[in-house]
Amino acid sequence: MNAIEIRNKFLNYFKGKNHKIIPSAPLIPENDPSVLFTTAGMHPLVPYLLGEKHPEGTRLADYQKCLRTVDIDEVGDNRHLTFFEMLGNWSLGDYFKEDSIKYSMEFLTKELNIPIEKLSVTCFKGDNDAPRDEETARIWQENGMPKERIYFFGKDDNWWIAGDTGPCGPDTEIFYDTGKEKCSEDCNPSCGCGKYVEIWNNVFMEYYKNQDGTYTKLKQRNVDTGLGLERINMLLQGKETPFDTEIFKPMMDKLKELAKNDNIASRRIVAEHLRSSMMIIADGGKPSNIDRGYILRRLIRRMIRHLNKLGIDLAKLEELIILNTKILGEMYPELIENKENIVKTIIEEKEKFAKTLENGEKELQKELNKLREKNIDTLSAEEVFRLYETYGFPQEVTKEIAEENGFKIDLGTFDKLFKEHQEKSRLGSEQKFKGGLAEQNEQTIAYHTATHLLHKALQIVLGEHATQKGSNITTERLRFDFAHPQKVTKEELDEVERIVNEQIQRDLKVTCEEMTYDEAKASGAIGLFENKYGDKVKVYTIGDFSKEICGGPHVEHTGVLGTFKIKKEEASSAGVRRIKAVLIK
Ligand code: ALA
Repeated sequence: MNAIEIRNKFLNYFKGKNHKIIPSAPLIPENDPSVLFTTAGMHPLVPYLLGEKHPEGTRLADYQKCLRTVDIDEVGDNRHLTFFEMLGNWSLGDYFKEDSIKYSMEFLTKELNIPIEKLSVTCFKGDNDAPRDEETARIWQENGMPKERIYFFGKDDNWWIAGDTGPCGPDTEIFYDTGKEKCSEDCNPSCGCGKYVEIWNNVFMEYYKNQDGTYTKLKQRNVDTGLGLERINMLLQGKETPFDTEIFKPMMDKLKELAKNDNIASRRIVAEHLRSSMMIIADGGKPSNIDRGYILRRLIRRMIRHLNKLGIDLAKLEELIILNTKILGEMYPELIENKENIVKTIIEEKEKFAKTLENGEKELQKELNKLREKNIDTLSAEEVFRLYETYGFPQEVTKEIAEENGFKIDLGTFDKLFKEHQEKSRLGSEQKFKGGLAEQNEQTIAYHTATHLLHKALQIVLGEHATQKGSNITTERLRFDFAHPQKVTKEELDEVERIVNEQIQRDLKVTCEEMTYDEAKASGAIGLFENKYGDKVKVYTIGDFSKEICGGPHVEHTGVLGTFKIKKEEASSAGVRRIKAVLIK
């Protein structure tokens, strides 16, 4: 059996159980700036898990492209992947534990012919938030799972949530016994020694985790499952790593043939990162220095570093991309459809990187020589950052080269320096999600800060109900919509204007902090509190006057804003007023 056959079997099986097959959503989530990439099959389905009606009904199955970036640096060992495919079936308020377990058991033992002796399962052991899941254990037993292969663990193992808040619930995980020796007497599915490999996760999503850490029951009881395709494929083929299956092997062999200094970790990194990069580009990704683009850049550049390490001529890169299109094209036709763009994007990035490497590596070697002369064995975070900022030399590359030369690197303040840098560059990307703020220059940034002052001033003069309902900024003016039931009087407008100008005169310092939604809320920040995937938010504080959740950017001191003048106040829609205002310098 190969991966495509497993995928087809899976979809057919669930079709037979009245599931509608839905296509994989793109790797890059649509209209969702809160996560960089789709990380699980449930991700595009969140609204439906929360109760919205799905056009295809209440039983769905799919194969979903996923990318998890936390483990990038682990790739090269025998199991970590960044890109992977998750097979999943969902019940949106339809069936629950009983059928979910029955289907999983039947699919694994009857369709994939896995002997039941090879399987064991784990269930949630219960805590203050939710009871011990005896029901799940009982259903497993009714489906033929012997009691001694049913384990109970706590939230760390048997509770699933994407991020910090959102739909979640106890899960039951199914493990495959590779037949290896037990690592100890107590060896069990949670120990991670490699004897037991998790293959399927069935989440019984009936809770919602709130920002304050409490749990509420969802309107409906859902099932969300995820079966890692690369992993089950590897196990069914009796292989030790996914790199030995048809998904990677032809590329691994080709790299071996081309390598002058063979090294299996480098070959895995190249094969894995090439696949991920190609999938990201096929879904519209472009390399850049921020967010998604930066991840893609990192994947491509790390791959190139390892091609160099293997002694493979970079002129071969195009051939490798085309080979991967052939290997993976049947599984992912989008690779064939986007072949030209994929080749072009990766080759262009290679050329940019070649220049970066040349300049940066020279510079790094100079620095290392200096350190050698001084008998210092550690490269400082400031230096690592300087190489990044001036030469675009990636931190991980600096680390690798420094270590190859026998140096340690101190990343102490690097993260802080890097964050500050990212902060500046990220502002650009965040704006694209905030209609009306796409264009950024001194003028629009000034209007942005003025908008915060106006928002707060309105709340002071009119009351706390006067919250933001919309905002639009051009280089000429700001426009601000806010909740208020009647026309704002001339006196009130004058007072708002006076307060804003007073804050400008006070030349207040504007500062920015990153925190979680909960912290932002607790700090008294105003702004939109939406349920996101536990992402951090930025809170901009203007002196002692205003505190607001916002992507920025802002001026550093209010003194630069000039004079604030309200030009117009009018109705926008029912219960919403609109102010247009300008800054006069
Ligand atoms: N959402 C679950 C997971 O990703 C199925 O493991």
